[in-house]
Formats: sequence, structure tokens, C-alpha cells
Amino acid sequence: MLNFIYCNKTQYVYGEGEHRNTGALLAPFTSRVLLHYGGGSVKRTGLYDAVTDSLRTAGISFVELGGVKPNPSIELVRRGVQLCKEEGISFVLAVGGGSVIDSAKAIATGATYEGDVWDIYTRAAKPTAAPLPVATVLTLPAAGSENSPNTVITNEATGRKLGYGNEALRPVLSIVDPTLFPTLPPAQMAYGACDMLSHIFERYFTNTADTDLSDELAEGTMRTIMKQARILRREPQNVKAWGQLALCGTVAHNNLLGVGRAQSWACHALEHELSAVYDVPHGGGLAVVTPPYMELVYRYNPGIFAQWATKVMGVAPDRDTDAVIMEGIRRLRAWYREIGLPQTMGELGIPAGADFTAMAHAACTVHGGTTLPGVHPINEEEAAAIYRAAAE
Ligand code: NZQ
Ligand code: ZN
Repeated sequence: MLNFIYCNKTQYVYGEGEHRNTGALLAPFTSRVLLHYGGGSVKRTGLYDAVTDSLRTAGISFVELGGVKPNPSIELVRRGVQLCKEEGISFVLAVGGGSVIDSAKAIATGATYEGDVWDIYTRAAKPTAAPLPVATVLTLPAAGSENSPNTVITNEATGRKLGYGNEALRPVLSIVDPTLFPTLPPAQMAYGACDMLSHIFERYFTNTADTDLSDELAEGTMRTIMKQARILRREPQNVKAWGQLALCGTVAHNNLLGVGRAQSWACHALEHELSAVYDVPHGGGLAVVTPPYMELVYRYNPGIFAQWATKVMGVAPDRDTDAVIMEGIRRLRAWYREIGLPQTMGELGIPAGADFTAMAHAACTVHGGTTLPGVHPINEEEAAAIYRAAAE
């Protein structure tokens, strides 16, 4: 196990009906917020009315900015930053999924910075002050942004989708109410479950030794995600299953499962290029790149992949190691199919003529290096091979 520091400041409020307490829960933190939300689901479901009523009851005033779209755009972030500066707002409340929360974190970052906030995402600049505090009411369990220090933003003008992490961006308060999730379309449940699983893969498949506790916690969380997603595929209104899946989504990405481990994030870098260029859902892109990625890298550390295949995918260790691992990957594909995820670039809507060489270059150089880390560093040729394998 590697040395680490783990600090998680989020006040995490879980429970059926808790969204109605948003105002009361926020009152100890602030009396005025920027209320940030997405493209319309919060109004259709009645959540907007419930949250704004609770803010008024608690004496919290708000200025609102809706319209966040999936793969959130830097353009709306810039408007949010301007609004905070003009209105003297010093707290951002995100009501939505990962895109709304990430956009809120970007606004929180830009509101205390004089220059263009995109420069912080490209690493051309560093923040000069702490970001504004952020709170969330989660409407979609998936990205884990309700308890992560990360934000991912797309710049359509430059065709880049970039992440930024800052411990100060972990929300001060997150409300996770499973009664808000049954309005989600089945595809979003599948994308979300796939994303959660990938957040664990990126940490679990490591060359770091002596990680028994985080291995076991990760394996239990992976099994629970797969089980609850299967239940929700059959019973999309099952609030108990939504609650269990949501807790997995938070644990999958708040880095408790990643402490002391060298992490990868290769599949995320590969996927972010797909959603930057083709605006595909993040979870769908992950389902397409993950199996060919595993097939390419498993031989560099067959031990951890065989452990996953047996303990998570239920493969009997009664054959040679390669066969155990390949059966694990086959079962992963079958689970993706079962819950309704795409399997190929074509199913994701990415054309056969896509420039995989250019995307591989962009993915491998995104963090300033030339390869993507993991049990085996992926170079540009290997990244392009993964994209091409997913296109077949
Ligand atoms: O915009 P509205 O109308 O609200 O509709 C949204 C959106 O179209 C809809 N939705 C959300 N809650 C709903 C609902 N529809 C009905 N009922 C509800 N209760 O769902 C659609 C997708 O929402 P989005 O927020 O885009 O999905 P998700 O939560 O999967 O977030 C994806 C984004 O998070 C980033 C991804 O790259 C992607 O941009 N990630 C953020 C991470 C982080 N901050 O730590 C880590 C992840 O790896 C990921 O990269
Ligand atoms: Zn993700």
C-alpha cells in the first residue's frame, strides 16, 4: 500500500424525502445561493418547486441558472461565473446529475478567479483563491460528483473535455434522496451503473501490492452495483434498489476505494475523447472501450484480473488463468448487454470513419505525458487499437 492522506468533508444526507429539507440543511452554511440545474427534468418532476419552497421557508434567497446539458459546456459556466460576480453570490447549489454538479463546481472555481476559468482546466493557470462552497441535491446516481473533488467540463470551441480536481471542491453538503431517481429513463440507469463500475476498475486494477482491505471493499461494491442494476432493469420504480445503487455510486468515486493504490484512469481518458468529439453519454462510451482495454492489458498483471473474474464475476478457478480472465470479461459484456448498454462504436452512434488516431493522440497526451497509466502504460498505438477493436 502507498502512503496517502484521505480527507472527506461532505455532510452526506441520505434518505427518502430528504430533498424537502434542502433549505433547513443549507441554512447553517448560507443565506443566499446560485441555484443551478439542467435542461428541464427538475421542473417536470416537481423537484424545482419542492427545493425552491424549502429555500424560501428557510429564508435562503436565490438567483437561478438552469440549462446545463449533458457533457456540460464552458459557455454556461462562464455565464454562471459572471452571475456570481455581478450578484455577489458566494455559494452554489447544484440540483441535478453529474453534469449539473460539475458545472456548479466550475462556476465555484471561476467565481473566485480573475481570468477565464477554462485556463484552470487546461492547466494554463492555477486558482488564486479557494473556490466557493458547493452543495448538491442529486437527481442521478452515476458520476459520484456529489462526493468527489472533481469536475469535468467540455469546451465545444476547442473540442476538448477536461477534468480538474481540487479537494476544496468536495461539496460541503450532498442530499441523496432515492425517491428522486425513478423518473430516470432506463438508459440513464445503465450509463450510471457502468460509470460507477468503471470508477472502481480505474482504482482496482493496479500493480500496487498489500491492498487487501480496499480490494475487498471494491469487490463488494462492484457486486452490489451489478446486482442492483439488474433489479432496476426489471423494476425501475424500486426505490430501495435505487438507494443501494446511489450509495455505491458515491463510494465508487469518493476515493475511499482508491486510497494507497496507484490508479489508472485510462478508460476515462479514452472515453472523454469520445464524448468530447461525438457528445456521447459518458457511461455508454465506457461500456464500449472497457472490454477491449481489459483484453489488451490483463496479461501485464493477470493476478488482479483473475481475482476480479473469480470474486466479482463468479468465474470458477477451474481452468487456466487466461481462460478465467477471458470468461470474466465475457460476463462483463453480457451484463452490459443485459442492462441495455451499447457494445460497439456503431451502437454508440460513432461513425466507422472516425479518426481514432487523432483521438488516441489526444487521450494519451491529455495529462501532459505520452501514455495512459495502469497495470500497463497505454501508448497512442495501443489506444488507437482499443478504439478500433471497439469499432468492430
Ligand atoms: O438536464 P435534465 O433535463 O435534468 O436531464 C438530465 C440529463 O439529460 C437527466 N436527468 C437527471 N436526473 C434526472 C433526469 N431525468 C429524469 N429524472 C431525473 N431524476 O439525465 C441526463 C443525464 O444527466 P447527466 O448529469 O449528464 O448524467 P451523469 O450524472 O451521468 O453525469 C455525466 C457527466 O459527469 C462527468 C461525465 O464525464 C459527464 O460529463 N463525470 C464527472 C465526474 C466527477 N465530477 O467526479 C466523474 C465521472 O467519471 C464523469 O467523468
Ligand atoms: Zn466516470
